[in-house]
Amino acid sequence: MVLQLVEATEDDAPRSVAIETEAYGPNGPVGLVLYPGPRPTEGNPRADELIKQRREDPDCRWFKIVDTDLDASPEERMIAFAQWHVWTTPRTSIPSGARGPGSNPEACDLFFGGMNRKRHALMRGKPYVYLKLLHTQPKHQKRGAASLLLEWGLEEADRLGIPAFLESSQQGRRLYEKWGFREVETLTVDFSPWGGPSSIEVPLMLREPKGQQSSMATMDQLGQVDT
Ligand SMILES: CC(C)(COP(=O)(O)OP(=O)(O)OC[C@H]1O[C@@H](n2cnc3c(N)ncnc32)[C@H](O)[C@@H]1OP(=O)(O)O)[C@@H](O)C(=O)NCCC(=O)NCCS
Repeated sequence: MVLQLVEATEDDAPRSVAIETEAYGPNGPVGLVLYPGPRPTEGNPRADELIKQRREDPDCRWFKIVDTDLDASPEERMIAFAQWHVWTTPRTSIPSGARGPGSNPEACDLFFGGMNRKRHALMRGKPYVYLKLLHTQPKHQKRGAASLLLEWGLEEADRLGIPAFLESSQQGRRLYEKWGFREVETLTVDFSPWGGPSSIEVPLMLREPKGQQSSMATMDQLGQVDT
């Protein structure tokens, strides 16, 4: 049972999407508001979207965890995936929260756009590493796959002496705290207009680099959040 951290390629995008869909559950109350459908039956728009994000950002890095002992196809030996962005140059623009066909544009703007706006306000003018995606196939969770993926980005952050940032799911929060992240802001979203939960809380979490006083973004230096 050997878990290996391997840099992922564009060919891994469909498998990442399959793991992501299974990990979040296709019919959760938040997912149903964000993606009411109908979903396209042809192609894989989510995989296309990931590939586009990667091509547009030279600082985007993909990693996968491969269980080399798994009695499965090479594709199915991939059990987890992470998308990191190593932004040594401060970001100047705020990405849109828009998602592809089958999504609810207003809800996506509140949820994904809201995260992007808060992150931009907090980290404005500062370099940081950003964990955009992290998911492990449910039957392989609690084996340390996500920890290996986290470790890569955090070692990179420490090497560069810059903070790490992420928006946490409720499921991931305890793991992130174990790895030294702490909540610096909360995004609260109301999905009741679409029959969803009226108060969804997304913790925005920051981890200072180890081994040195962060010169880049201590809590005191964080930007004011525009709410
Ligand atoms: C959050 C998520 C990525 C964690 O993935 P994972 O591969 O299970 O993570 P790990 O195995 O590294 O750690 C999970 C837990 O297992 C524990 N663990 C790790 N290795 C272990 C082992 N060999 N034996 C027993 N427990 C172990 C960890 O300490 C951790 O404990 P905690 O739940 O008390 O924090 C996964 O649950 C997931 O995909 N969730 C749905 C999507 C999601 O929420 N993603 C986060 C987006 S911000």
